[in-house]
Amino acid sequence: MALNVVILAAGLGKRMCSSLPKVLHPIAGKPLLEHIISTASELNPSAIFIIYGHGGEQVRQQLQHLSVQWIEQKQQLGTGHAVAQAIPHIQDNERVLILLGDAPLITVATLQKLLQETPENAVGLVTVHMPDPTGLGRVLRDASGAMIAVVEEKEASATQRKIQEINTGIMVVPAQKLKQWLPKINNNNASGEYYLPDIIALAVTEKMAITTVAAESPEEVQGINDRAQLAMLERAYQRRVARKLMLAGVTLKDPERFDVRGEITCAMDVTFDINVILEGKISIGKNSTIGPNVVLRNVTIGDNVVIKANCVLEEAQVADGCTIGPFARVRPGTKLAANVHVGNFVEIKNAVVGAGTKINHLTYVGDATIGKTVNIGAGTITCNYDGANKHHTIIDDNVFIGSGTELVAPIKIGEGATIGAGSTITRDAPANALTLRRADQQKTINNWQRPVKKDK
Ligand code: UD1
Ligand code: CA
Repeated sequence: MALNVVILAAGLGKRMCSSLPKVLHPIAGKPLLEHIISTASELNPSAIFIIYGHGGEQVRQQLQHLSVQWIEQKQQLGTGHAVAQAIPHIQDNERVLILLGDAPLITVATLQKLLQETPENAVGLVTVHMPDPTGLGRVLRDASGAMIAVVEEKEASATQRKIQEINTGIMVVPAQKLKQWLPKINNNNASGEYYLPDIIALAVTEKMAITTVAAESPEEVQGINDRAQLAMLERAYQRRVARKLMLAGVTLKDPERFDVRGEITCAMDVTFDINVILEGKISIGKNSTIGPNVVLRNVTIGDNVVIKANCVLEEAQVADGCTIGPFARVRPGTKLAANVHVGNFVEIKNAVVGAGTKINHLTYVGDATIGKTVNIGAGTITCNYDGANKHHTIIDDNVFIGSGTELVAPIKIGEGATIGAGSTITRDAPANALTLRRADQQKTINNWQRPVKKDK
């Protein structure tokens, strides 16, 4: 039977106190709704319908790259009414899996279990035991343990409120049955809403057995209503990622202070110190060490690389054996070949740096091609910008640039050249020679005295 997924995302999300629609708030840098859509996609459904309402245009716009169908629910009259909006688009002989747009951590494994354990012509529900079930729909069972209904908090008796097994809102229903039952549910309840879980009792009156599948943990099915819950699930998500990495041979000095906001591939024996933030696509080779407070965004790092404390690397490639930092900034378009050293307070942008080259102190390298085993002295600046255009600097193999040098681009420093400290170089420098520029005016004034502080 073909599978349709319906994701309910029309609710207001008032308690977020935000102008951003709730389902667009991110976990690990990705909107809540996108997490659920990615999970649903892994089930290979024939269609995914998003029921949207509040702030809908913004949601659609931000997630337009995803292949889903958008269905507007103009008024939010309840979860039953929300699902009814998708009914005209669904064939009778299909199954419908209902997910909630604000419960982002549901796993593919639990959903697969639900789909496998529930007979195709029956109703299945994911439930969980919540230590504090306040506000949630309780699962009612008969003496034999068979599920008979969901009762919402507002309608529940004092005894029913003590039940800790709750409806997660995630269920699978045959489309044909859904079409029969939805028109039968009413809004004669404390909220004046059409409650989707009321279809359970209807199924039971038809002598249909309800399959229940337990979620692995409460957080897997936890819905987000406010920013405290958002933060809690952010950490739960990060713990999941951290655990997976640790079990694959990565050392995390503290998994509670580790944040992945993208996709990471890590070889064995990589070590992360605390407070590392990884964004976008990250790949790290074996035995590499990432120091504390490092931010990596879309970078590829080879084997045996050491990144020391407080570095920021973006859109860069770092080959085996490089050492970077502390306090280095490596910007987009940087490619460091093997065994390059980039030291403290160095900024590199759009530059290719050859193997074994050292750029160790207080330097700006931008729009440059640097050869092998070059030494760039402290305080060197490639002057790449003339106020209107950017220009390129070429430094060939084995060059030595003395400290405090300005290289005014476009410029080329030939192989094996040496540039004297403190030079402002404006023309190409030949290979294997010493080039320097300085006003030869050094003088000493013998009886000079330092200024003294005046009395007030
Ligand atoms: C619902 C369930 C409750 C369950 C809980 C789990 C009902 C009546 N109750 O309660 O049994 O324990 O979820 O979190 O279903 N939505 C729409 N359109 C609407 C109303 C809601 O799209 O008209 C969406 C919301 O955006 C949300 C989801 O449906 O993603 C759940 O709605 P919500 O109002 O949060 O339901 P709860 O009262 O939490
Ligand atoms: Ca809710």
